[in-house]
Amino acid sequence: MRPAFHHGVWSCYYPKEREWIIVGLGRSTFPRTMFDNERVTDLRPRLPSPLQEVTDDRFARHGVRLLLKRDDLIHPELIGNKWRKLAPNLEQAAGRTLLTFGGAYSNHLRATAAAGRLLGMPTVGVVRGDELAGRPLNPSLARCAADGMRLRFVDRATYRRKTEPDTLAAVLRAAGAEDAYVVPEGGSNAAAVRGCRALGEELRGRADVVALACGTGGTLAGLAAGLAPGHGLRALGIPVLKGGFLGEEIGALQEEAFGGRRGDWSLDERFHFGGYARVTPELEAFAADFERRHGLPVERLYVAKSLYALVVLAEEGAFAPGTRLAAVVTGSPFTA
Ligand SMILES: Cc1ncc(COP(=O)(O)O)c(C=O)c1O
Repeated sequence: MRPAFHHGVWSCYYPKEREWIIVGLGRSTFPRTMFDNERVTDLRPRLPSPLQEVTDDRFARHGVRLLLKRDDLIHPELIGNKWRKLAPNLEQAAGRTLLTFGGAYSNHLRATAAAGRLLGMPTVGVVRGDELAGRPLNPSLARCAADGMRLRFVDRATYRRKTEPDTLAAVLRAAGAEDAYVVPEGGSNAAAVRGCRALGEELRGRADVVALACGTGGTLAGLAAGLAPGHGLRALGIPVLKGGFLGEEIGALQEEAFGGRRGDWSLDERFHFGGYARVTPELEAFAADFERRHGLPVERLYVAKSLYALVVLAEEGAFAPGTRLAAVVTGSPFTA
């Protein structure tokens, strides 16, 4: 694999994925020794991600085959959908400061900070809640800071208005990052959505239903577009936020990324467990049991809710006997 240097970015072309993947930034001489001994290639994603069949009575007794789409194994730090969404944005940022948004435990902020460290690229994280500013950093934000991310805490009202041009301009100015490349909260912009299309493409011919947890819906929007018409493959999203607004937002993301609705997708809104970041004792017990059964570390805020939903749906007879059901493991638990 020969790296090439364009616009301050070293990239390698991966013909199978038909994609340029960033392996370094901002040097005019590539650190060849690092590359040769494979350290820089730590950035290389494991793509396509593995698809593992597991035996689980709760599905088998309905004739359903459960497959785990292990996006959590794509990269040790840009985990799951984070790689798929961030990689195209890192490329477009081309070495500029990358500024993005998130809550105090945001997986997206941690992944962005890690990318910044790995690629030698400045990052700024705008964090919801100015009351956090005077306190010690929680483990997730401490990891972001250790990875070199500059953290800016903003009040909740400003945070809610962050997509309004004037508010965004003020946030950028206050952060001293007027020329930053801005990635929205959750990382879901058109480039990210297009980056998630490959997830659908990887599943063509290998599954009948693909299910995943949704936050912003960007991953589902891209994945669904990758399911070619005529393959009989449909996507099922499990929103982890309460509100019933996501269908419209996914439609808008597809419009922005592809010019219109794409793929066969639907949502089941029943499994948010009270809202974002709510983990009930029942959900906790379910996730711990799933971990014991299958040796899979189960991320609680998203992945656990989607797996729980699939068990219920199988019990309700939502999947015809013979269905190959792929559950996307979109992340893994954060350990400080
Ligand atoms: C582990 C995990 N799964 C799923 C999602 C949802 O992704 P999206 O916001 O694209 O719907 C997220 C959020 O980024 C996440 O961290």
